[in-house]
Amino acid sequence: MTFRSFFPPVRTLMGPGPSDVNPRVLAAMSRPIVGHMDPVFIAMMEDMKGLLQYAFQTANALTLPVSAPGSAGMETCFANLVEPGDKVIVCINGVFGGRMRENIQRYGGIAVTVEDDWGQPVSLQKVEEALRGNPDASLLAFVHAETSTGACSDVEALCELARRHDCLSIVDAVTSLGGIPLRVDDWGIDAVYSGSQKCLSCTPGLAPVSFSERAVARIRGRKTPVQSWFLDLNLVMGYWVGSGGKRAYHHTAPINALYALHEALVILHEEGLEASWARHRRHHEALRAGIEAMGMPFLVDEAHRLPQLNAVMVPQGVDEMAVRTALLDRYSLEIGAGLGPYAGRIWRIGLMGHAANERNVLLCLGGLETVLAEMDVVTPGHALPAARAIYSEQPRAKAA
Ligand SMILES: Cc1ncc(COP(=O)(O)O)c(C=O)c1O
Repeated sequence: MTFRSFFPPVRTLMGPGPSDVNPRVLAAMSRPIVGHMDPVFIAMMEDMKGLLQYAFQTANALTLPVSAPGSAGMETCFANLVEPGDKVIVCINGVFGGRMRENIQRYGGIAVTVEDDWGQPVSLQKVEEALRGNPDASLLAFVHAETSTGACSDVEALCELARRHDCLSIVDAVTSLGGIPLRVDDWGIDAVYSGSQKCLSCTPGLAPVSFSERAVARIRGRKTPVQSWFLDLNLVMGYWVGSGGKRAYHHTAPINALYALHEALVILHEEGLEASWARHRRHHEALRAGIEAMGMPFLVDEAHRLPQLNAVMVPQGVDEMAVRTALLDRYSLEIGAGLGPYAGRIWRIGLMGHAANERNVLLCLGGLETVLAEMDVVTPGHALPAARAIYSEQPRAKAA
């Protein structure tokens, strides 16, 4: 049997993640490997912390990338902050809140669920009722940007509720970081995790996390050891924070993947967070105009809609998978399918990080309109002019 090198096709990634990666990030990955205790690498790690603090808008000393994907960021928060018997209020309005609940239960916590319909943001009123009804709860956990539906929840208000009821907050910012405002310190978030492959436009496999002093005190004061050895922050801190100027080996860091994340964060810093948020918003507006010009509504109300994850209702009678397959085959363009109750009923079109640009918006609208027109579902000729009208109303210079 002969095995050959793998050469993937060049795709445009406009699904729920991973997103397109800037060539600078891929180039950074191919730089020479050094040891994970090499002083130049340690200096890069320090730089990385500063860049992550900027991205998260925090001064938290415990800010670092976990060496595994976003799910490990989630698990790091629950493994370290939940002790057996702890009561945790967890909000579920899509797939990822459900995974949070599973983490709580697996770490021996008692999950009190606040449920909202898929496509809705987390209800502040229901959370307040749950906090009032469970004065012994010690944590509130929720997703900022629900990737399964495109709904955005009010992090600032939810963290304020948590504080008022003496709970620490755990926030999933996997899809929000870099794409929409997220202000960890101003909003009083205690534990937050993200992923490298969404609006940071890095390769998948790293999970930036950040913990407030209150959260660190809770972790240091645990009565029981953290059940996961790999994710135990008391041990991870020995490598990422060190003590007395010395670092202890914990695991072999994914060195070249960290170069990539460093480069992605440098790119974000060069652009500026506010400019990045504005860019995501501007391209979302153009995409929205084109989608609406084809007569397709969005799942989420405008007030709670994420610019970086557009959940579009599939027209009645259309085989959504046939459309995605045509886009992939003919345009090398990936968009995402619906999940759970929305499987077969929505497309999830991502505009994340490097993928949030005019070329992609026009490619996606043009491709969708062509394929749907061939199925006699839309009349061609409306989507692109609608998007172009937004681009001329909102010139690049104003909104980056
Ligand atoms: C909101 C949210 N949380 C967690 C995850 C899990 O991240 P990963 O797939 O990198 O493990 C994802 C991935 O799509 C996500 O969108």
